[in-house]
Amino acid sequence: MKKHSRRRFLTTAGAAASVAILGPSLLDVSSVFAAPFTRRDIGGLGAADPIITGYKTAVTAMKALPATDPRSWTYQAAIHGTHLSGAKTAWNTCEHHTYFFWSWHRMYLYFFERIVRKYSGVYGWALPYWNYSSPTQRQLPAVFRDSTSSLFVPNPNRPNAWNTGAASLPAAHVNTSAGMALINFYPGASSSLEGNPHDNVHVDIGGATGWMGDIQAAAQDPVFYVHHSNMDRLWNIWKAQGGGRVDPLSDSTWKNTPFTFFDENKTQLTMTGCDVLRAAEQLNYTYEGEPAQVKEYCLRIIFPPWVFQLVELIRWPGPPIELGPDPVKIPIELKDMRQRLMSAAESKTQTVLLKLDGVEADKLPGVVWDIYAGLPANTEPDSEGPYYVGSMSLFSAGVHSNMQHKFKPAEFAFSLDRAIPAALKTNAEKLEITIVPSGILINGKRSQPKVASKVRIGSLSIAIENQQKSTR
Ligand code: C2O
Repeated sequence: MKKHSRRRFLTTAGAAASVAILGPSLLDVSSVFAAPFTRRDIGGLGAADPIITGYKTAVTAMKALPATDPRSWTYQAAIHGTHLSGAKTAWNTCEHHTYFFWSWHRMYLYFFERIVRKYSGVYGWALPYWNYSSPTQRQLPAVFRDSTSSLFVPNPNRPNAWNTGAASLPAAHVNTSAGMALINFYPGASSSLEGNPHDNVHVDIGGATGWMGDIQAAAQDPVFYVHHSNMDRLWNIWKAQGGGRVDPLSDSTWKNTPFTFFDENKTQLTMTGCDVLRAAEQLNYTYEGEPAQVKEYCLRIIFPPWVFQLVELIRWPGPPIELGPDPVKIPIELKDMRQRLMSAAESKTQTVLLKLDGVEADKLPGVVWDIYAGLPANTEPDSEGPYYVGSMSLFSAGVHSNMQHKFKPAEFAFSLDRAIPAALKTNAEKLEITIVPSGILINGKRSQPKVASKVRIGSLSIAIENQQKSTR
């Protein structure tokens, strides 16, 4: 097993210059000396763009490889997750709801991209990203809807509504602002953005039966990779905001745990967090339109300037909460907590959190839920309004039928800072939490989602998170 390193590229490249036989894989080696490849916004790419035609060519070629070839479409998807039995090297190794979510998927995409580049026949091919944060890009990108293309996946593996273009993602399900505002890495920005938009996009597209909604099938859909290219871009954008946003550089497990992949020559390699800190320098790509990439170094540990401490204020004493097709209301008595909540919601160094723990379902529910606090009676839930708190869905954690990893219940945390002042104005005694199933848009209108499996919430609590200067 070879250790991936930049030095290896440079040596190979040096040798390549003096040798006459240039295999296709050596082409990207020479790019170490050129500008990094650009991962482009798919919204700006026409069907004839080489990035699109190259992706189609590569997907066709990878599907034609025997499933035992680590570069084949089947094998690559299985590295993420698979229902196939007879586990092979690196199968089912995706990281979710751990602090490896961003780093593992960056490594995975990096090698996938090298394989696609080789088979695309396009020099400098790089994975485009799907920027669903833009209101004009909430439908499945058009090039995935062409039924004659290798990027197409027919119903039911990708539901018809997406393939016809009727379906689109609700704004609330792809809202990155809550995650981007967080300073801590994990739990923090990584886990928040893994929920919204990441899990929501999976669940909205796949529903309860499509590939994208099922962690063990998701990477078979070519759209998976442009979704993850966007998630990877969000990692860079999050760090570029500064203000103490750093990767867990003081954590040697995060930095040094090796993960196994295969490159375009079938060579088995490992990569670690330290190998993927600086995308342009270490992995040779940048994102179209991104701010200057932050340069972190493993040997130069930056400690986060803040520490966060959580104090639980109120725990819902009632029976376990069960979510089905109808909205559920949970009235929380505030008693003497009202003042404390108000001042914490208004404070710059405190955040009021709604925490949902022990969230689980027997099977994939295939639904996203929107959460509100203080929604007045007879008021339609409106995710643009002041009572909206966040959206949640079950994709990787909390689903008992997901056999890939050991079962782990899902947990969620949402800031109540915005909702509390509005909520306490309408009712000072109680804070009513409302949880509503929230469907995708069909022809621009909200649809009634089908709840394929009930969801249980083990515990619901309200806590205050205190942000303090780190003394380290
Ligand atoms: Cu590892 Cu979007 O999934």
